[in-house]
Amino acid sequence: MYFGVDYYPEHWIYPYAGTPEEPEACWKNDAELMVGAGVNVVRMGEFTWGLCEPEEGKYKFDWLKRAMDVMGKAGIKVVLGTPTAAPPVWMAKKYPEILPLDEKGIAFSAGTRRACCLNSDVYWDFSRKIVREMATALGNHPQLIGWQIDNGLGGHNTECSYNEQTRRDWHGWLKAKYETVERLNQFLGTAHWCQMYSDWDHVPMPMHAPTHHNPALMLDWARFNSDTIVAFVKMQADILHELSQGRPVTSNLRALRRKFDHFDVAHVLDFVSIDSNATIKSKSSELACELDMLRSLKKTDIRTPDGDTGFWVIEQKAGHVNWQEVNSLLRPEVVRLFTYQCISRGACGILYFRWRQPRMGTEKFYGAILSHNGRKDGRTYKEIAQIGEELKFLAPTLKDTQVAADVCILYSHENDWSTQYGPQPTRHFNLRDHVQLFYNGLHHRNIPVDFARPTEDLSKYKLVIAPSLQLLAGGEADLLKLYVQNGGTLVGTFNTGLVDEHHMAPDGCYPHNMTDLFGLEVSEFDPLPPDEENHMAFKGSFPTSHMHMARVWCDLIEPNGCQILATFAKDFYSGRPAITMNTFGLGRAIYIGTMSHQHFYDDLIVWLRQLCNIPPLLKVPDTVEVSMRQKDNTRVFFLLNHQNSPVRIQFYKPMHDFLTSSTVAGNYELPPHGVLVLDEHPKK
Ligand code: GAL
Repeated sequence: MYFGVDYYPEHWIYPYAGTPEEPEACWKNDAELMVGAGVNVVRMGEFTWGLCEPEEGKYKFDWLKRAMDVMGKAGIKVVLGTPTAAPPVWMAKKYPEILPLDEKGIAFSAGTRRACCLNSDVYWDFSRKIVREMATALGNHPQLIGWQIDNGLGGHNTECSYNEQTRRDWHGWLKAKYETVERLNQFLGTAHWCQMYSDWDHVPMPMHAPTHHNPALMLDWARFNSDTIVAFVKMQADILHELSQGRPVTSNLRALRRKFDHFDVAHVLDFVSIDSNATIKSKSSELACELDMLRSLKKTDIRTPDGDTGFWVIEQKAGHVNWQEVNSLLRPEVVRLFTYQCISRGACGILYFRWRQPRMGTEKFYGAILSHNGRKDGRTYKEIAQIGEELKFLAPTLKDTQVAADVCILYSHENDWSTQYGPQPTRHFNLRDHVQLFYNGLHHRNIPVDFARPTEDLSKYKLVIAPSLQLLAGGEADLLKLYVQNGGTLVGTFNTGLVDEHHMAPDGCYPHNMTDLFGLEVSEFDPLPPDEENHMAFKGSFPTSHMHMARVWCDLIEPNGCQILATFAKDFYSGRPAITMNTFGLGRAIYIGTMSHQHFYDDLIVWLRQLCNIPPLLKVPDTVEVSMRQKDNTRVFFLLNHQNSPVRIQFYKPMHDFLTSSTVAGNYELPPHGVLVLDEHPKK
């Protein structure tokens, strides 16, 4: 298992470190300290373009090679970042057209990072060359085990730009999609406000305007920008595969927040890496949700440097961040807890951001393994060294184990974008919040979850939850029907099937193309202001620990063969269905026509778990997070206490504790922020 750090050797040369005689002396010292902490890999190079190409066409990689050699002497492997996230200063001076224009047509200034337009020919050309040169110079270095392409794709809201070459590519993209302007007019519905185009050149980029652009145009714009990012990554991946064979490529992604299709990017990568922001989120279920989402981006054809089939956390924050109002310290044991949370959900490589707090620049007050003073007696260094020790011990057991889920939540970027474009029925709906309510219910019961796009093969899941698929593209409804027909259980909700892939509303009832599946028709919907709520009255076997509210959105449902599980309790639709269930083929389709509070989703999951026969991983108190990795007969359980107080666990059968090589049985007290790694064989 790879365990490492993000290292910036360029920050640790004379006069910032080292001596005039030995300007790079600090590197060796760093490598020795790294080895002491169990580090066996570093990522470096991702912001070094200005050093590697100090003048146009003049390349210098000797310094980077020396840094890799130092790592080599210490037995540490290297992942190199291609430096295209931070173009050198000379480039924008000489070719100002690379600077991205914002939606008002104003250029971003050079001198930070990500100030580049990904549709600029000049930028592509320079990127292609630097990646080629770097791969030629270093791509077969014995220490090199992989590449990180670019850094923080789409970060700082740079997913798109409004430059002239962007306009050119946009029109090319539209032409390839629609072939004729007439078809484009038809599918985008430009008859609204009579904004028909008679020439490709007339189609605007959705720039600053008095009111909302056509949501169908916005959707295409998002798809186009996403395709641009994917093409940029693929261009680099192709070069690296050609010149640096046997070294898998990745890129550091964040939890689906940026506006590009992360599934598409993952498709052109060999393995997924992520930046974890775990220092600042307090809710373990939100962190877990992000990890499960990111793990799910790539389920097949995974090629990591050591052949494992998981994902890497290539930036696990080793300490506090620098961008909150107050950046408090991370409490002892918390980095360890977060590290195990990543591993428990499938991470097979962990690298900490960053090795040492830099003396210069914007990130000097960011936490790190070493603080400015560089001493190894610091709290964080010791904690990381402890984790390093533990992982050496655990790695053989974890090798090739994976998270296996019976439950899947459907998520697609297109759908997420759809719910954000144009005026919507309510501004108080947020897809991520809706997803999180279901996810929390599953997380509270420690039920493993995958995420998938609606077009993926869902047949292996016992339960599929589809929160608010507002956009249902042609064919997607049929795939979901097939899943249910063959015996699956599908949960659909309000705000489903309102538009197709062209953001066109249906000429029938909602959910479009799925009224037969759910055995109902939604004729209207009533969004509720934040201070208003309705309630649900339950019928039959549905367990209700609380009076469940209906908020945000209430569907007016005409049942058509479905069973009614709950009705609305007031207003003019009092007594009409709120939750229904329909038998369809061998399976069932449950429809939830409103949004509720967390208690409802907790009850719902308890009920669904029984309905679909999904066993709990382990019986533990609610506050303990459990996840499991398995391979054949090996099942490794991770128990995490995210609380600042101890929690008592009752083990009904003895289990083997990997970290202490002992057996736990009976009453066990998991300390604050404590971690247990167990399997069921006490005598190992
Ligand atoms: C990451 C980025 C790093 C660093 C970090 C700070 O997304 O890749 O370079 O800036 O954010 O949070």
